[in-house]
Amino acid sequence: MTATAVNLYLVGFMGTGKSTVGRLLARQLGLRFLDSDHEIERKQGKAVAKIFAEDGEATFRALEREFIELGHPEHGAIVACGGGLVVPPGMLELLHRRGVVICMHAPIETILQRTMRTSHRPLLQVVNPEQRLRELYAQREEIYRRTGTMVLTDKRPMREIAAHVLRVYRLEAAHFKK
Ligand code: S3P
Repeated sequence: MTATAVNLYLVGFMGTGKSTVGRLLARQLGLRFLDSDHEIERKQGKAVAKIFAEDGEATFRALEREFIELGHPEHGAIVACGGGLVVPPGMLELLHRRGVVICMHAPIETILQRTMRTSHRPLLQVVNPEQRLRELYAQREEIYRRTGTMVLTDKRPMREIAAHVLRVYRLEAAHFKK
């Protein structure tokens, strides 16, 4: 694999392991790993939670779009996308034009377990985070399904998930046309 490799975009709900798998595969393939949240934080000089609090969610979504449109290399990158990045109209189509899109999937119960242990996600800083998570999951399920390929991440060792994502990526990258 080289710097001319088709980009891989990992999408899916928060807590599905997009960054862990992305980082692992990037190392394995010699590609560049980017996490959309981190890139936005670096450029803005503030944490995602602060952007939500000070500028609002709409501003954050615009920054996500800008990152996808202009803020990352056209080839040779594996991008872990924030969970809501594919939600605004047109974003999924944009990703599909730029590379292979794979959705990491997990049942809501698993997501609940994984996300309740952390506190950095602004969307879950509410009185009832479980209810909020269930609502978001229900709203987004249909959008994630439209991504094309979904890889189940529940109750599987990380290396098996990564190997599955790699098989799908290789197949889809071979047929990818810009
Ligand atoms: C969000 C997911 C987060 C981050 C932000 C909003 C979402 O990324 O972009 O907190 O709307 O689902 P992760 O999916 O990496 O947690």
